[in-house]
Amino acid sequence: GTTAMAQDLPPLEQKDRYKVGFAQMESNNPWRIAETKSFHDTAEACGWDLIATDAAGSAAKQVADVDSMIAQGIDVLFLPPREEKPLIPAVMKARAAGIPTFLVDRSVDPAVAKPGEHFVAFLGSDFIDQGNRAAQWLMENFEGDKGIIVQLEGTTGSSPANDRKKGFDDAIAADDRFEIVASQTGDFARDLGRQVMETLLQAHPDVNVVYAHNDEMAIGAIQALELAGRKPGEDVTIVSIDGTRDALQAIIDGKMGVTVESSPFFGPLACEVMKKYAAGETIPEWVKVEDRIFTKDNAADHIDEAY
Ligand code: AHR
Repeated sequence: GTTAMAQDLPPLEQKDRYKVGFAQMESNNPWRIAETKSFHDTAEACGWDLIATDAAGSAAKQVADVDSMIAQGIDVLFLPPREEKPLIPAVMKARAAGIPTFLVDRSVDPAVAKPGEHFVAFLGSDFIDQGNRAAQWLMENFEGDKGIIVQLEGTTGSSPANDRKKGFDDAIAADDRFEIVASQTGDFARDLGRQVMETLLQAHPDVNVVYAHNDEMAIGAIQALELAGRKPGEDVTIVSIDGTRDALQAIIDGKMGVTVESSPFFGPLACEVMKKYAAGETIPEWVKVEDRIFTKDNAADHIDEAY
């Protein structure tokens, strides 16, 4: 059972300073930069000697970065796995080296690497629920007769792309006003989101809804739509996830309908959970982050704290 497995997890000593690894996957969007900054901002108060790396969008480099952290003798590892399968070796190697590992913001394939056994816990949002809530907002607020949806997916094989698609598709399938005519990856990146949207607009000029798995791709889609003479917010409804500053501004400007929050500020939570673990407390396998929702009703109230 869970208790026996939890006892098998590598222990963490209680001490004043820890050598902590944070192996970031990439830094090409404001969300990632805010997450890395959150770890740096937490380091001093939590007694971390922080080793932070940037895998520049390569799962192979992220695995190598974890290898190097293990070699440097980290006490604890915080890992946002870029994709669900390619990062399993990193989790397993840290486990074999006796280093307690916490997955932050993204997860790995749970059929292979398990919380409470191969890693301590997953700290993060419910991505299925985020997709579900984006769909719910659309179903409640869409005013046309027929919604022709283009979906811009996140990084292929990543847990947020898999789960945000599932949560949205399952909810939308129950409403026959809507049809998803295309669903393609934009790799969570603004520029690729723009390019993919440009291409999809040629094939589906009648699109009037865009569901983007993150705000960066939504902003890219808005740029593509405007270049094509469309009016996002008027003739195209944009729904998205994250809550970046640019997205909140797009909501205030009337171009975007909703963004479901996905917070990048993991530093303080990582500190709290690590200290509890060191104190011998049982950590739930999933430390769930609760997400808000941003619309024209509250975007202006939150833009100052956005990233
Ligand atoms: O894992 C969370 C996702 O990753 C965020 O939604 C996205 O912006 C980031 O790159």
